[in-house]
Amino acid sequence: MNRLPTLFIGILFTFAFAWVGLVVMPYAQIGRLQPEVNADTGDVFPPTPSGLAEAGQKVYAANGCVYCHSQQIRPEDAGSDLARGWGSRRTVPRDYIRQSKVFLGTMRTGPDLSDAGFRFPDAKWHHLHMYNPRSLNAYSIMPSFKYLYITRKIVGQKSEDALDLKGDDAPPAGYEVVPSEDAKALAAYLISLNRRYPLKEAPEK
Ligand code: HEC
Repeated sequence: MNRLPTLFIGILFTFAFAWVGLVVMPYAQIGRLQPEVNADTGDVFPPTPSGLAEAGQKVYAANGCVYCHSQQIRPEDAGSDLARGWGSRRTVPRDYIRQSKVFLGTMRTGPDLSDAGFRFPDAKWHHLHMYNPRSLNAYSIMPSFKYLYITRKIVGQKSEDALDLKGDDAPPAGYEVVPSEDAKALAAYLISLNRRYPLKEAPEK
């Protein structure tokens, strides 16, 4: 008996089923999400990131931050993310609609960064931390990203951007360490990671 047609239809059905489940249905559910506009204030959520923050997203990708950091906060009943202070609510698909690349992450060698800009709103903190994580947390196993910084001779006034480095990290007298354009963009991106806006599908806890 020739069972080829049955086999063929079976294979076709298997692929069609997967395509509907993995492509068509998610697209129907979340493919056309729009930002939420607050009727009273006119505020739009999620807010549009600055151009510098968008550039920083590429630096984040290029430096492999996603290998150690996730950007997704689980609901209260699915994990301890909220109890750890990583956010004030779970993340939902609408949180990501402004991002051309979404760094959900799979590993949590370091803390979740969905809300890093709320915890650390100061670029100087990010620069000190990225330059040498162990200068702020002695136990840190995060690699140093010193190559994103430039050590240069001070000409005239010391730059306003110069890092306030202490101890072994301090540059020789007459020199200063300043962030490169990539480091500035990366810090702007990290500060833009802030989920403290309300969305109707994810009320604050
Ligand atoms: C090998 C793993 C690893 C990589 C790669 C890594 N980190 Fe980290 N990161 C950590 C660990 C561990 C901590 C917690 C200790 C600390 O604060 O240094 C951390 C902490 C942080 C924090 C503070 C978060 C908090 O809530 O305390 C920020 C911000 C951060 N990392 C940004 C970055 C950025 C940006 C990159 C890429 C340029 C990066 N990390 C790459 C492991 C990593």
